Amino acid sequence: MNIAIFCSGNGTNLQAIIDSQKKGFIKADIKLVVSDTAGCFALERAKKADIKTLVVEKKNFSSQKDFEGAILKKLKEEKIGLIVLAGYMRLLSPDFIKEYKNKILNIHPSLLPSFKGTHGIKEAFLYGVKITGPTVHFVTEDMDAGPIILQSAVAVMEDDTEETFAGAIHKEEHKIYPRAIQLFVEGKLKIEGRKVKII
Ligand code: GAR
Repeated sequence: MNIAIFCSGNGTNLQAIIDSQKKGFIKADIKLVVSDTAGCFALERAKKADIKTLVVEKKNFSSQKDFEGAILKKLKEEKIGLIVLAGYMRLLSPDFIKEYKNKILNIHPSLLPSFKGTHGIKEAFLYGVKITGPTVHFVTEDMDAGPIILQSAVAVMEDDTEETFAGAIHKEEHKIYPRAIQLFVEGKLKIEGRKVKII
């Protein structure tokens, strides 16, 4: 199976996925890293791992359709069967999601449905939750609301700062995302309504 990974920033999840694939834990090909942000560190990580990169910046397109069309064209060329959003901080349109129905995964840094959106770590920390953690889910038209594949609980320590707290969540992300991807690759994820059965 050919995988494309979409990133906008640092790319630590991308790195965890690349490392898992190199170790043979993920049995699929990472064909392409797509970014909406030229110069982001995730692109450096991709280049270092000899993975093709594609930068498509929204500012260079007059419509969402054209912007996503440029990405879709490359995905088709590379025969991509799974899209993995790893810190891709942009919403995909319903049309795009339809093209890859039930073939797009996302990781979010809170226990969904709590703290949706772009500041899941900060908001959970400031709220004072005692337990939180990342969620891997299928992407549907509603933001951060698709069927949940894996979650992992992280306890908030008394002496945690926002930084140490974020570090603990990222550590868990790097464990559960490769696991969820491999489950998908093996065809072990069965969506039943809102639920995902691991078969
Ligand atoms: C991750 O913590 C991921 O959960 C979050 O962005 C970070 C990307 O880090 N995604 C979202 O908040 C999506 N709503 P990374 O670039 O180091 O992988």
